[in-house]
Amino acid sequence: DSEPLVLGIETSCDETGVGVVRGHTLLADAIASSVEEHARFGGVVPEVASRAHLEAMTPTVERALADAGATFQDVDAFAVTAGPGLPGALMVGVAAAKAYALSLGKPLYGVNHLAAHVAVDQLEHGPLPKPCVAMLVSGGHSSLLLVPDITGDVRSLGSTVDDAAGEAFDKVARVLDLGFPGGPVIDRRAREGDPAAIPFPRGKYDDGTYDFSFSGLKTAVARWVEAKERAGEPVPVADVAASFQEAVVDVLTHKAIKVCHENDVKDLLIGGGVAANSRLRALAQERCDDAGIRLRVPRPKLCTDNGAMVAALGSELLASGRPPSELDLPADSSLPL
Ligand code: KG4
Ligand code: ZN
Repeated sequence: DSEPLVLGIETSCDETGVGVVRGHTLLADAIASSVEEHARFGGVVPEVASRAHLEAMTPTVERALADAGATFQDVDAFAVTAGPGLPGALMVGVAAAKAYALSLGKPLYGVNHLAAHVAVDQLEHGPLPKPCVAMLVSGGHSSLLLVPDITGDVRSLGSTVDDAAGEAFDKVARVLDLGFPGGPVIDRRAREGDPAAIPFPRGKYDDGTYDFSFSGLKTAVARWVEAKERAGEPVPVADVAASFQEAVVDVLTHKAIKVCHENDVKDLLIGGGVAANSRLRALAQERCDDAGIRLRVPRPKLCTDNGAMVAALGSELLASGRPPSELDLPADSSLPL
């Protein structure tokens, strides 16, 4: 019990996540999601998300503490996602965290959502290798990061120039009438399909940058499906899902390994919601094995948004001796790394 207990709050999108960690040990990971309220709109509605966070905040914090067998008095520090994310949604978490920290007289750490997606892996695989390359693929971001030190030195080497990888999954799922969010259902349907059935484009594959582009792929899938429908032919949903998914994970793994090679880094970490994708995990493992690169991917529940990732980074900041945030910490929807 010598290490400090840190409670982390995540509200950047549609999940109200509250995690509790002691050092690198995960004690609780409570989640309330408003995803079903957004499903009928085909995407996250910011106003609906903010209201859901308000309602879920207190019960989710209480549930996390109960799961951890702890009380408010046991908490040594609070951490909260300060950005990037939806402004109103972030504000709910930041306001709650300030109130807890102020009333209990404990330090508060505002953390970056992207860095937290990387830091969470420590709860499963131990301290991060220094340096490592992190590929962050979610509904809002697709970035390649060089990470000499997660508590202060994270460099973005490239990112998507249009849609995020998860956004492409969500949009293609809509074209195929598979509902929202699209990632998990495409992952599932793709298992019955042929990934080589349709040669969808791999944007920016060998363009000499570390950037991605997925909007051309999304459009190509939509055109292909429309052509089938116009011809009155059935749409082979599993084949489209598998071929689309293959195009995404092929580009992602290709570029991630390229970054490792060109920067002489032997450790690759993949995080964010799309890292839950089973084909991405398998292909990344295969290609890393061939390239002599060690791969770390957190278990799927830690890949999608959660409070444990925020607590994990808060814990790291506390351990590194960094000063806590001021109590006028702003919620910053476009917080840079
Ligand atoms: O990290 P996350 O929970 O929230 C953001 O910060 O965006 O990521 C959500 C994204 C969604 O676009 C969702 O469709 C995608 O992650 N996702 C997946 C899978 N599970 C979630 N994409 C592909 N395969 C999956 N199994
Ligand atoms: Zn995220």
